[in-house]
Amino acid sequence: MTIRLLTEKDVAAAAAISAATGWNQTDQDWGTLLALNPDSCVGVECDGTLAATATLSCYGRQLAWIGMVLTRPEFRSRGFARQLLERLLAEADAREILTVKLDATEVGQPIYESLGFITEQPVERWVRPREGPGPEDSLATVGTPARGLDTQAFGADREMLLHHLAERAATLTAEQGYVMRRNGVRAAYLGPCVARAPETAEQLIRAALGQHSGPWFWDLMPENAEAVRLAARLGFTVARKLVRMYRGEPLRAKESWIYALAGLEFG
Ligand SMILES: CC(C)(COP(=O)(O)OP(=O)(O)OC[C@H]1O[C@@H](n2cnc3c(N)ncnc32)[C@H](O)[C@@H]1OP(=O)(O)O)[C@@H](O)C(=O)NCCC(=O)NCCS
Repeated sequence: MTIRLLTEKDVAAAAAISAATGWNQTDQDWGTLLALNPDSCVGVECDGTLAATATLSCYGRQLAWIGMVLTRPEFRSRGFARQLLERLLAEADAREILTVKLDATEVGQPIYESLGFITEQPVERWVRPREGPGPEDSLATVGTPARGLDTQAFGADREMLLHHLAERAATLTAEQGYVMRRNGVRAAYLGPCVARAPETAEQLIRAALGQHSGPWFWDLMPENAEAVRLAARLGFTVARKLVRMYRGEPLRAKESWIYALAGLEFG
């Protein structure tokens, strides 16, 4: 087996692994991860087959985000995920990154704990299988997120990521807020959404939901009670519970402004 960097040529094989696991990431999501982080997305190759993956999205020196920790079922329990994670953590340390975070599934959590990660807060995947309340008149317009608003909320500069995601579908903005959406393998993905006030978030999210009539996924931090209330009011229910974990310096920003994550793989 070989551990090596993933490249654009691996997108199809990597996306096949995530889709077979029931995850929502598309070829485009993998393309974004690899385009933005060409030196920190790794995989295990066994006899020409991509057996395992893990990605590290770097947001300057402030923060890096681990995602897409996946091992094909027939290659599990051989230490592949652990070796990939150790490699990514060594990379983060070499870059002197202050904080590394991730959103862990139940099966992933013990592995991360053994690598020194500490629980920060819960994260939830909310879903809406069918159409909910219809679109309403909204003051949201197509635009670009206000510079600085996202960084203040998230705690690190992810402008390059937002730039990539904005190419997937029009960003809706209102005064002091924005929302994005993108397609997914199983459902349209709502997020990221950052807003200074709950009324702004509601206006933006209602407008975004009005643009697609199929099923939706929405990842949020339930400590933001306004986000939970809004998701419930718009016909969403909790489908999965995850745990946000961190290693290094604690980093909490203006999370009451974050109504939807950019993705479990992005933060
Ligand atoms: C989680 C996952 C990536 C582990 O991959 P893997 O290559 O089999 O993991 P490893 O062989 O490196 O095992 C790492 C540790 O987890 C333990 N482990 C692995 N699979 C386990 C399981 N199903 N149940 C309990 N423990 C498990 C191993 O014992 C090992 O511990 P050790 O190093 O102390 O012996 C893989 O099961 C998977 O792809 N699951 C579905 C996707 C997922 O949930 N990913 C995590 C996202 S946060």
